[in-house]
Amino acid sequence: MDFAPRRWGLAVLEVVPSVRWTGAALVPLLVVTVILLLRNWNWWYYAPMLRKGQAPLPPGDMGWPVIGQILDFLRAFKSSDPDSFIGNMTKRWGRHSLYRTHLFGQPTVLATTAESIKQVCMNGEVFKSGWPKSTRTVLGRKSFAVLEGDEHRRLRRLTSQALQGQEVLKNYIPKIEDNCKERLKSWAKEGQFQAVPKLQEFTFEVISSIFMSYGGGPVAQQLLHDFELMVYGLRAMAINIPGFAYHKSLQARKKVINALQSILDERRMNKTVKYSDVLETLLETRDENGVYLTDEEIIDTLVVFLVAGHQSSTFSIAWVMIFVQRHPEVLRACREEQLRIQKSKSPGEHLTYADFRNMTYLSSVIDETMRIVNVSPFAFRRVSKTVEIDGFTVPKGWFIETWLRAAHLDERVYPEPYEFKPERWQTFKPRTGQFMLFGLGSRSCIGNELAKLEMSIFLHHAILSYRWEPVNPHSPTKYLPHPQPVDGYLVNFSRI
Ligand code: HEM
Ligand SMILES: *[C@@H]1O[C@H](CO)[C@@H](O)[C@H](O)[C@H]1NC(C)=O
Ligand SMILES: *[C@@H]1O[C@H](CO)[C@@H](O)[C@H](O)[C@H]1NC(C)=O
Ligand SMILES: *[C@@H]1O[C@H](CO)[C@@H](O)[C@H](O)[C@H]1NC(C)=O
Ligand SMILES: *[C@@H]1O[C@H](CO)[C@@H](O)[C@H](O)[C@H]1NC(C)=O
Repeated sequence: MDFAPRRWGLAVLEVVPSVRWTGAALVPLLVVTVILLLRNWNWWYYAPMLRKGQAPLPPGDMGWPVIGQILDFLRAFKSSDPDSFIGNMTKRWGRHSLYRTHLFGQPTVLATTAESIKQVCMNGEVFKSGWPKSTRTVLGRKSFAVLEGDEHRRLRRLTSQALQGQEVLKNYIPKIEDNCKERLKSWAKEGQFQAVPKLQEFTFEVISSIFMSYGGGPVAQQLLHDFELMVYGLRAMAINIPGFAYHKSLQARKKVINALQSILDERRMNKTVKYSDVLETLLETRDENGVYLTDEEIIDTLVVFLVAGHQSSTFSIAWVMIFVQRHPEVLRACREEQLRIQKSKSPGEHLTYADFRNMTYLSSVIDETMRIVNVSPFAFRRVSKTVEIDGFTVPKGWFIETWLRAAHLDERVYPEPYEFKPERWQTFKPRTGQFMLFGLGSRSCIGNELAKLEMSIFLHHAILSYRWEPVNPHSPTKYLPHPQPVDGYLVNFSRI
């Protein structure tokens, strides 16, 4: 099955002499030959000759030169059924854990099962960070998306000190909670609005206040605006010409960098004020040789966190709002749980970390929502050494995408995968790799605990005291760059 494309190519050449050489026959023949050549170009160009006894390459189709299968990918992700991309591969090649393709200008293997994804994520030595060029440029040379090995581990250690574990997270609760209450109150006054941009403001403020004690106000709003533009180009084709998303994104990146640089300069000039935020830690940290982080390193780190720390949380919260609104019995059960927690406290007392850990039903509602929605549908790796996975060769120099979305919607693991059933989490305990909202291994999300905490605090107050109805209950969903209702979840919102 793997070598069929090469045989078609040869078949054409064999047919050629047997045709009567009239001009009329020659033209279509030439056209067909050129098309077949182009159609199989990627395969000839990228597929290594395998040694005898070596496992075959994964089945699949590498599409056209340069663009590969990107048009199929876009067709699927711009339709109402993004899973038709992998679904069609399954139909065509049978059900396998790996498929080969060509996406974002790179020969690529897609890992689509819990088992194969686990093997990729847990092997950081072979599978390096592999974001497309556009992402790497927008996020910066010294960002998490690019760093490897010791540099990556060091930055991870530094930043995770501020993001992991009860001891640090509990300190953020009062600030996040006050922020939520205030926002919800003012939203109710507005009555009708798009929830997605409002949530962007909320999550952006949470992350920028934790990282650089920076929040609210018109300056922050301008920064957020530039950020949105910048983020838009992350997955765009790397075409740096005015008018293209990628160009706009790079322009916006310059503004963001300038804003962050001036925050940094202010800090360096004025050392009298103590901030106890992540930026302070980054400014004070030295490596084994006593060398401080450079401005570029600090700024690229801030950029990654501001991007990673607000986008996914925004859409995750929006989708929980959508799902609980659509399932009144789930909303009722959430409300009962949150009422129990509220009643155990005196009025005005802040939530505690223990309260958060006690929101077990809400936690399963969040997990179930995120399993279906997949705000981070896949992650990118580069193959630094030829290896074998599940009986297929994965060649060095190719890219591999961990298709987390497929693992979360696998009906062998989750019966009726598209049904929203929070109760499945009462009995189901996922095995490693079956549930990877936040990825896995040495490059997994370091904001996972914070994300769940801020979602839970927000939902606690929203569910207890407010109600919302979508103005367009049948608004279609768009899947790029993140899954969201096309109307930005326009709602009528009021106090109960
Ligand atoms: C619901 C919210 C979130 C989701 C679904 C999510 C998902 C993910 C996933 C799947 C990855 C792994 C990508 C890969 O394997 O290459 C990741 C990485 C990352 N996330 Fe998140 N994330 C969320 C929130 C956050 C927050 C709040 C922060 C920051 C505070 C954050 C910071 C990061 C960083 C820095 C990485 C890169 C880690 C590395 O390369 O070592 N994320 N996230
Ligand atoms: C999947 O296959 C169906 C039927 O052959 C086709 O209509 C659809 O466009 C394909 N989708 C993608 C994304 O290739
Ligand atoms: C340092 O910051 C503090 C607080 O923002 C301010 O009052 C003080 O004037 C600043 N000092 C300098 C030298 O800018
Ligand atoms: C958690 O909830 C249970 C039952 O709702 C309650 O008995 C317990 O005291 C709570 N724990 C904390 C730390 O609030
Ligand atoms: C939302 O509010 C508007 C204006 O108050 C009203 O006309 C509309 O019927 C409401 N829609 C829903 C779904 O409640």
